[in-house]
Amino acid sequence: MGEYMEKSIANDGSYEHNVFIRWQPEYNLGIPIIDEQHRGIVTTINSLFYAMQNKHGENVLKSVINMVTEYTHIHFDVEESFLHKCGFTDFKKHQGWHNELKHTLSNIGSKSLWDHNPQEFLEFLKNWWIDHICEKDKIFRDYILGRM
Ligand SMILES: [Fe+2]
Ligand SMILES: [Fe+2]
Repeated sequence: MGEYMEKSIANDGSYEHNVFIRWQPEYNLGIPIIDEQHRGIVTTINSLFYAMQNKHGENVLKSVINMVTEYTHIHFDVEESFLHKCGFTDFKKHQGWHNELKHTLSNIGSKSLWDHNPQEFLEFLKNWWIDHICEKDKIFRDYILGRM
């Protein structure tokens, strides 16, 4: 997994075209609404990166950090209702991961604003993104596609 993430997420500071995470076909789970929202999350993370690169002020950063946080909440709600409808057996465990993340997101988001250090939030988002899409959500994808 490491190798294929490296192709799309620049870690060496040489960012191309101000895109922090470049969407790759491998990220698609094959569930349209979930894929669409995952792309939306990438868009919000890239917007935060863009705002930082272009040295936008604190107000813009605050709005973008709020947008990332709120959009992630929307995504979790949609994903959970989808998983519930599908009768996903590990629903509670997955929901627990989402709840944990919601909590951490708001803590790190506020802390990075307080410390004037959005880089910390961005790094956290990158690691979370890898874990969420490439590990955790692939568990339910395998379950759901296995039953179709
Ligand atoms: Fe999830
Ligand atoms: Fe997800």
